[in-house]
Amino acid sequence: MRALDLVFLKKFSILIAFLVAVGVGLALFAHYLNGKKVYPADPGAVRSTLDRIAPEGAVYAGTTGAAQQAAAAAAEQAAATANVPFGGSTDGATIFNDGPCTACHTGGVGGAPKLDAAGIGARVAAQGLDELIKKAIAGFTGTTGTMPARGGNAALTDAQMKAAVEYMVAQSK
Ligand code: HEC
Repeated sequence: MRALDLVFLKKFSILIAFLVAVGVGLALFAHYLNGKKVYPADPGAVRSTLDRIAPEGAVYAGTTGAAQQAAAAAAEQAAATANVPFGGSTDGATIFNDGPCTACHTGGVGGAPKLDAAGIGARVAAQGLDELIKKAIAGFTGTTGTMPARGGNAALTDAQMKAAVEYMVAQSK
């Protein structure tokens, strides 16, 4: 009787251990499957996040402070112009000689057309001034090399580029 009990206990423990192993296996598998699933964001949570990070409501304060606001806007505008090279000057000679252009165009570096009749002079004759300005602003790769957009100084304005190209053309007779 007692020997039989022992045999039963042994088999039963093995069965229990096996079932526990299966249970743990299933739990791990379920965990793995759950990790693969992408749950959509809760729309309520998204809305409350947006609410939290939204700017504070705009307050209309009448004309109080309007003068300061105008002054601040003007100061901002002035600061923006100050960032334009040469203080926004449209003197072609300054932009060409003090800007990036001379580095390539004076010596003909990298296939840049020089300021002479065979260089820029021939180009303006073939394409016209407007086309030269357009291409100098946008940059292009031609048959002799690569002209970087705005000569590599993105802060130069269209008017400054126009002035620089006009200067180049005037020097290329
Ligand atoms: C890194 C050298 C480099 C710099 C800096 C540079 N260029 Fe050029 N540029 C070139 C090269 C190279 C070409 C010719 C490309 C070709 O035709 O293959 C060219 C061509 C041109 C042309 C002729 C465009 C045409 O249609 O044939 C103009 C105009 C010009 N550059 C203006 C300027 C101006 C203005 C500046 C300064 C703001 C400037 N470049 C700065 C390299 C340069």
